Amino acid sequence: MQDVMDYRRSLERSRLSRMRRDGASVFTMQGREWDLLPGVFAPSDSPSTQIALDLLGLAGPAVTARGSVLEIGCGTGLIAVTSALAGCERVVASDINPVAAENAELNAERHDVAHKVRTVHSDLFDALEPGERFDTIFWSSNYVMAPADYDYEHPHERAYVDAGYTAHRRFLAEAPEWLTPGGSVLLHFSSRGDLVSLLRIAGEVGRALRMLRVLPVQEGEHEVQHMLIEVAPRHRQPFVPGQRTREVPRQGRRG
Ligand SMILES: C[S@@+](CC[C@H](N)C(=O)[O-])C[C@H]1O[C@@H](n2cnc3c(N)ncnc32)[C@H](O)[C@@H]1O
Repeated sequence: MQDVMDYRRSLERSRLSRMRRDGASVFTMQGREWDLLPGVFAPSDSPSTQIALDLLGLAGPAVTARGSVLEIGCGTGLIAVTSALAGCERVVASDINPVAAENAELNAERHDVAHKVRTVHSDLFDALEPGERFDTIFWSSNYVMAPADYDYEHPHERAYVDAGYTAHRRFLAEAPEWLTPGGSVLLHFSSRGDLVSLLRIAGEVGRALRMLRVLPVQEGEHEVQHMLIEVAPRHRQPFVPGQRTREVPRQGRRG
């Protein structure tokens, strides 16, 4: 398992993905075409975007969803735009990579939901309007931990690794503050990440983690567990490893 958690392998995946394209391109997912700008996380190079849709119940043509959504780390905007297409009334798609915010705007326009999707270039919650609140806050995170002193060589690497889990710490601490009453903070994490550290950090910032779904996915020679984790203030239900987890079947798994 140490092998799949090795941040150098993730950085290599980032480098290979960037090498594969030198300009804007278009890919197909969810039966639709999507713009992909250079330097933005490519859903076509990784199974994680499709897995996130599966975990959220947004995969497929006839899904419905409601409410307001903040997607942290929107990349191409595929999940944010799919949420709007499924019926969410207000969606904010934000990313620390400025090209990703631009990419999400292109895809919102391509699929005629620009009136419902606002795109923001932001480090987590920094550039949101104070007082904005959301029914759902979701991040399909860069769950592989890099050393705390790692210097990013390209913004694309931030889609793959989080140095010292600095961004995860802030996400756990700050996300619940942006919720409407009764809203949910959801994190897509995986066994490529360091769950023990995530739990420790959650405790340190007064958050409880609840495993909502676990989805095993064969990735090359490894079976990786993808997880949908709810983040709540600590007085709500605590995380108990092995309990209250539910495996969701997934078709067409990619390695
Ligand atoms: C695994 S990618 C997911 C992209 C997209 N949601 C998808 O599923 O295709 C993680 C995303 O988080 C973004 N990210 C990393 N750190 C961030 C931060 N501090 N604030 C906002 N976005 C961040 C990355 O730039 C990247 O786009």
